[in-house]
Amino acid sequence: MVTAQEIEKQKQYIEKVKEINQGRELKYFILTMGCQLNENDSEKLCGMMEQMGYIQTDEYQEADLVLFNTCCVRENAEDKLFGKLGELKKVKEKRGTIIAIGGCMMQEKHITDKIHESYPYTDIIFGTHTLHKFPEDLHKILQERKKLQDVIDIDGEVYEGLPIKRTSNIKASVTIMYGCNNFCTYCIVPYVRGRERSRHPKDILAEVEQLAQEGYKEITLLGQNVNSYLRSEQWKEKGLEHEGINSFATLLRAINRIEGIERIRFVSPHPKDFTDDVIDAIAECEKVCKLVHLPLQSGSTNVLKTMNRRYTKEQYLNLVEKMKAKIPNLTLSTDIIVGFAGETEEDFEDTLDVVRKVCFEQVYMFIYSRRVGTPGDKMENQIPEEIKHKRFDRLKALVESQIAENNQKYVGTIQKVLVEGPSKNNPELLTGRTDSNKVVIFEGQPELKDQIIELKIISEHMWYLKGEM
Ligand code: SAH
Ligand code: SF4
Ligand code: F3S
Repeated sequence: MVTAQEIEKQKQYIEKVKEINQGRELKYFILTMGCQLNENDSEKLCGMMEQMGYIQTDEYQEADLVLFNTCCVRENAEDKLFGKLGELKKVKEKRGTIIAIGGCMMQEKHITDKIHESYPYTDIIFGTHTLHKFPEDLHKILQERKKLQDVIDIDGEVYEGLPIKRTSNIKASVTIMYGCNNFCTYCIVPYVRGRERSRHPKDILAEVEQLAQEGYKEITLLGQNVNSYLRSEQWKEKGLEHEGINSFATLLRAINRIEGIERIRFVSPHPKDFTDDVIDAIAECEKVCKLVHLPLQSGSTNVLKTMNRRYTKEQYLNLVEKMKAKIPNLTLSTDIIVGFAGETEEDFEDTLDVVRKVCFEQVYMFIYSRRVGTPGDKMENQIPEEIKHKRFDRLKALVESQIAENNQKYVGTIQKVLVEGPSKNNPELLTGRTDSNKVVIFEGQPELKDQIIELKIISEHMWYLKGEM
């Protein structure tokens, strides 16, 4: 297999860089700007860097290698990156720090052009399809000290066997598929991440089994459209079926059987692919959390159509009803975009209507951000910024009132909580998360960290609950 040979080659580069770095205590700094998939990519980059002899630092001023893993799903990411790059100029002049930028934004030509023009001290630019080649790129820089760009635009491959350094020793993310074929008209992801491709079930199982052996308790399965896992024709033809796993539902069931794993989450499923077998698997697998993230994007059938989401308001609501009927204690979270091109006041009211009807546990709200190269950007009837912001505030007010109301139902109940450690705001207290991903703060012994315990909820505070042993 070509990809396996490629990884072998990269392992040799890891050894070469390690040799060059021998005896020097080199440090790296990494900043991840994107989604959980990006974070999982960063864990792989960290794995590679540590094997090459670098140690992680939280201070970019003292780093020998600074790495930014970028996102381009909304505009604010660009401002953030350019701000950070500006800050790095002095550090670069003083220490000769190697600067590497990777990730989704590097797949956009107007961005890499700008970096060459305004931030010429950047050493390595790499994209989403060349992440695994980071050791080779770094080796080249160390040898030649000439800046390089390693970005390609392809459908994409699946690379197995990269080293990984995970950020937690209790919760782990496992990417099950890469890319996206849906081309929602607002979204840049399919252009920067390539076509949908699934990992082989045996590789996923091996990874989760390994995690279970290492003591991990919670697994989050990641993909842009997890419930179309193994469904794309191209991957069907490759005959990826393994021990009865041939769909997302059968994958969930197989992971549910792995001893040691206690919680399974997944993001993001697409409503159009939410087939009955997936609903049944969620209902029947005791480890699968009954909090399901079901991105709505808009509650208006008209807007959904221009967004190319391929479901209507009614289909979404019917799906929710069906899920609620089949999955006891189901709670839902969602993503909503406000102010997409052509969204009328009536359309927006439809979104509010769905939010009122479904009563989500959590809503991630975004103001529509035009992305160069997407059909949405070329649509003529763009919504003025102030209207977008007004609608956003109205949605936010509704969501917050619902969350407050929703939180009430937790008070007095017993919840299973995975203890994560001391609370950031008050280290005297511990923090953890319920099955439904609610933050719970409580008093307890530090040894409880990494355990799943039962807590009684005594009060609610909008963004967290207070518990008692
Ligand atoms: N694949 C996932 C989401 C990927 S991006 C899904 O389909 O649900 C995460 C979220 O960012 C999206 O759900 C959407 O709500 C938001 N988003 C994507 N493109 C956006 C844009 N151009 N402007 C504002 N929000 C956007
Ligand atoms: Fe973007 Fe739509 Fe694909 Fe999600 S499903 S990544 S929103 S194109
Ligand atoms: Fe994720 Fe942002 Fe890329 S949301 S897939 S890091 S564009």
